[in-house]
Amino acid sequence: MSLSINSLSTSYANLQVLWDVSLHVDKGEVVSLIGANGAGKSTLLKSIMAIIRYRNGSIVFEGQSLKGLYPHQVVARGIAYVPEGRRLFPSMSVEENLRMGAPRKCEDLDSRLDSVFSLFPAVNARKKQSASTLSGGEQQMVAIGRALMTKPRMLLLDELSFGLSPKVFERVLDAIEETNHLGVSILLAEQNSERALEVSKRAYIMENGRISSEGKSQELINDSRVREAYLGIVD
Ligand SMILES: Nc1ncnc2c1ncn2[C@@H]1O[C@H](COP(=O)(O)OP(=O)(O)OP(=O)(O)O)[C@@H](O)[C@H]1O
Ligand SMILES: [Mg+2]
Repeated sequence: MSLSINSLSTSYANLQVLWDVSLHVDKGEVVSLIGANGAGKSTLLKSIMAIIRYRNGSIVFEGQSLKGLYPHQVVARGIAYVPEGRRLFPSMSVEENLRMGAPRKCEDLDSRLDSVFSLFPAVNARKKQSASTLSGGEQQMVAIGRALMTKPRMLLLDELSFGLSPKVFERVLDAIEETNHLGVSILLAEQNSERALEVSKRAYIMENGRISSEGKSQELINDSRVREAYLGIVD
């Protein structure tokens, strides 16, 4: 097992947002986390990254608890995170943004950069440009590239599709699948994306801070309630 979350509860001050959430990602798996606005997907990913402290429950990665760590220590354990909204450094160049993703003492920085550029040739062509001048899709690629600079074994992706055309989202998903084939486990949070379900074998549906269903993605895609509530498809 790669990531295992058990009975997690997370609160912002006195407002409890996650209730008894359990979820796992096996080694090499792509798993989707689907839920409407405000369901708690980002809160779950931030809890894994130790950006938010949680009170109850456990998060275990590769057999070791992540409790009490700081975000950079979670990254050092092998998990990388692409936040909602990308959060690039807008005035820095594409290459500088990518370098920021690498650990401080990094002996193979150039080869890590090369791997990102070969995954995203569109980004390579723009490496000296400031990040703010890139298209939304290119910025998303840089955000993923920056996360990959840590050479993670697990990648958490928050709302990759945001602001992207279906065609560009497709390009980005191709790169995610390619990354997965290199052995990186993936947890993909999306509001309503049939495509996300199609690239994952298993999925969890989150509703008001709880996991309301889970199962094989293909079965969830065929479930009329899920189709209507989460994929916006009325049969
Ligand atoms: N910093 C915060 N302080 C207080 N409440 C917060 C904070 N961040 C999120 N929340 C609340 O927690 C709940 C879950 O939010 P979260 O961002 O995790 O949902 P989400 O599933 O990622 O939604 P979206 O699809 O819109 O990104 C919401 O009710 C939100 O208002
Ligand atoms: Mg969110």
